Amino acid sequence: MDGQQLSQRGAWGSKVAFIFAATGSAIGLGNIWRFPTMVSQNGGAVFVLIYILAVALIGFTVMLAELTLGRHAQKNPVGAFEYIKPHTPWKLIGYLGILTGIFILSFYAVVAGWALGYFFKTASGTFKGKVTPEMSNQIFTEFSSDPIQVFFFFAIIMGLTIFIISKGVKKGIEKWTKILMPMLFILIVFLAVRALTLPGAGQGISFYLKPDFSKLNVAVVLFALGQAFFSLSLGMGTMITYGSYISKSDNLVSSAGWVSFSDTLIALLAGLIIFPTLAFSGQPGSVGGDALAFKVFPLIFSEMPGGQIFGTLFFALLFVAAITSTISLLEVPVAYLVDERNWSRNKAALLAGFITFLIGIPAALSTGGMEFFTKINFLGLFAIIFGNISLAVGALFICIFVAYIWGVKKAVKEIHSGNPRFNLRPLWAFSVKFLSPAAIIIILITLIKKIITG
Ligand code: PHE
Repeated sequence: MDGQQLSQRGAWGSKVAFIFAATGSAIGLGNIWRFPTMVSQNGGAVFVLIYILAVALIGFTVMLAELTLGRHAQKNPVGAFEYIKPHTPWKLIGYLGILTGIFILSFYAVVAGWALGYFFKTASGTFKGKVTPEMSNQIFTEFSSDPIQVFFFFAIIMGLTIFIISKGVKKGIEKWTKILMPMLFILIVFLAVRALTLPGAGQGISFYLKPDFSKLNVAVVLFALGQAFFSLSLGMGTMITYGSYISKSDNLVSSAGWVSFSDTLIALLAGLIIFPTLAFSGQPGSVGGDALAFKVFPLIFSEMPGGQIFGTLFFALLFVAAITSTISLLEVPVAYLVDERNWSRNKAALLAGFITFLIGIPAALSTGGMEFFTKINFLGLFAIIFGNISLAVGALFICIFVAYIWGVKKAVKEIHSGNPRFNLRPLWAFSVKFLSPAAIIIILITLIKKIITG
């Protein structure tokens, strides 16, 4: 690699910088918008339980596998597979990751646009005074079915993402995350305390945290596992790419542990806000709907002094959390184009971003903007196919590759750099070789069977 190419690739300024960027990638709409919706649609507490198990047993394993692979190869996902096993079909997993990333970004940026739109709405006083669930639902419906507004904010999100990514890893990604992510955390804790002290909160907590095992089925398990991958940014090479910018002296195990832990904490806290607030407003936990967070958060802001200020701050921070995730999604195709095709970052970001925007059009029109796309719930469909199944398939192949093709021994050698002890080694080796791939295969096969037999 020559000097110019090296500088096009970039690297993290420090371990802390990497941690913030990876945490920024993981924490986003997945935690605050998608997790509560999934809980609501998939039986409540039983989903939460399976989700936590999926993160601890499988998510962490895959996260460490991706970071290790990335740091070893110092390359984008396609390049990383090619580097370790040249001229084999394994690089197809890298391509699958790039495609998945573009498709996830296409609907994710639409929802990020909602967050930005809601920032302006809250700031301008739309939710002032007493907000009822009917009002909140109607405000969302009006907003999301207006194609001009939705497209306007969607375009801003994509433009901003392209701009930050074209600036490169260090100047672009690092700067944002350092101050704003801790702020988001503090605000969320604060809101959770408020929600938990609302009258009637208990019923919501019981839906959220008291498992009803009669609701357990294979779809719940698949959605929980897929959501774990989605929320931790796994299965499509984001963590391979981010890992490729980590220094050899950093501890990959503690990094993977921290990212998994903090991401899960934020998701769980988001639920602690949503479900008590739903119960308080007289709605069941299982109301479902793709935009639960957007309908429920305004209700809690209307129940607290200074709600407009807190609400505005919340949507501003949600927007930032979403941007630190959109950039990690776009970084995957861009790293590929820069590494493998020798493109400049600018050109790569522009082209990949523009294509993503085009692909996102149906999703942007699927919340009332156009009847056809609304009917088939295009956004929801994309979220399941790419944000769930495709990530699970990617994660499966990443495990198989690291465990059997590259080999656990070599991976462990990479992990030892920066963590010479690696006490979790036997557990990780067991999970990456047997537990994680077996669990993913069983879940996928059961689901396919179920779909075929109806
Ligand atoms: N993890 C992000 C979130 O929860 C979304 C994401 C998925 C980002 C996959 C990168 C890769 O919001």
